[in-house]
Amino acid sequence: MFSNRSREIAPFVVMQLVQRASEFEAEGKTVVHFEVGEPDFQTAAPVVDAAKLAIDAGRTKYTTALGIPELRERISQYYQELGVNVSANRIVVTSGASGGLTLLAALLLDPEDELLITDPGYPCNDVFARLVGASPKPLNVHAQNRFQPTVADFVDAWGSQTRAALLASPGNPTGTMLDQADLAAMNAHAKASAGALILDEIYQGLHHHPVGYSTGLAVAEDLYILNSFSKYFGMTGWRLGWVVAPDEAVEPLTKLAQNLFISPSAPAQYAALATFDEQAMVIHEVRREIFARRAALLADGLRELRFQIPVVPDGAFYLYVDISHTGMTSNDFCWRLMNEFQVAVTPGSDFGSHQADRYARFAYTRGAEAIELGLTRIASALESWGIDI
Ligand SMILES: Cc1ncc(COP(=O)(O)O)c(C=O)c1O
Repeated sequence: MFSNRSREIAPFVVMQLVQRASEFEAEGKTVVHFEVGEPDFQTAAPVVDAAKLAIDAGRTKYTTALGIPELRERISQYYQELGVNVSANRIVVTSGASGGLTLLAALLLDPEDELLITDPGYPCNDVFARLVGASPKPLNVHAQNRFQPTVADFVDAWGSQTRAALLASPGNPTGTMLDQADLAAMNAHAKASAGALILDEIYQGLHHHPVGYSTGLAVAEDLYILNSFSKYFGMTGWRLGWVVAPDEAVEPLTKLAQNLFISPSAPAQYAALATFDEQAMVIHEVRREIFARRAALLADGLRELRFQIPVVPDGAFYLYVDISHTGMTSNDFCWRLMNEFQVAVTPGSDFGSHQADRYARFAYTRGAEAIELGLTRIASALESWGIDI
């Protein structure tokens, strides 16, 4: 009765853990949430105020498919501030990066084509390929290479059916960034193979280094870039993102966007205009620093409990942690932590299959107090399971 495609999509273990967490919470128990990929902060007040004004002013109708010109201009200016020239014409405002992924899969892939995706990687990536009848092809990434593909890995994995590759910087679940020179070389290989490279920069802004983030557009201007207002800009529920596309892709993307989405949310677009104002940017920057402090707190605490963190992330809000000293698979570890100690962590199997039993993703999307409580509970768990700390 339902499509093969819909049957092939694997449910996430984390969703079952979230369900279990809500059952515990309904019983009045406190659950520590290290599983959520969503910041605990509310959308910055100036952005909320801009949305209210927009709604009161009747900005509640469809907009043009590629987004309101003011927002496309403002995003273009944002790139200017990051030191790259991107004309507003190449910016397509989307319904979250998820809307952008849908558009790019429809634009770039035909049935039988392959999309290279990293393993581990963002769990939904392969669904976008399958949705248009293409196949995801895993590109295993390793701790010794900071969980990013090397140019040699990339070239080796690119086969005769490969039409596109989807990489992320900083990535989910590992938070690491791609080397800019490698990125340029991979893009050149994709181009030479009549394909395309998509770079997911949805965690742009959430880097822990004091020096500014450099977009992939600085080294390869014909990349497809995915970005979003969800993470750094704290607007997950508003469902707004953008794609930067090469000039020649804008016209076919317009047709797809018109047909698939008509337009992105109008109030969300007017609200997003305010995210770039100084008042809101000050709030986003303070939050970035808070994330960096949380990262250090969680990493130090886990290391004290003998967990290995093979790669210190460059950004995002995740640690990809080696749990193998527990002697359990990551699934067992996560379920026992949840059932016995009410700590929610996402097992590696949600991000692919490469060494998935060995790793778990800890998100630091909750405050210091919750992190401390989680660490105390994990210490008790290890002790009760007879694991040396
Ligand atoms: C790497 C990555 N890409 C894309 C998305 C989709 O984000 P959104 O649709 O909220 O913009 C996420 C969400 O967590 C993500 O982690």
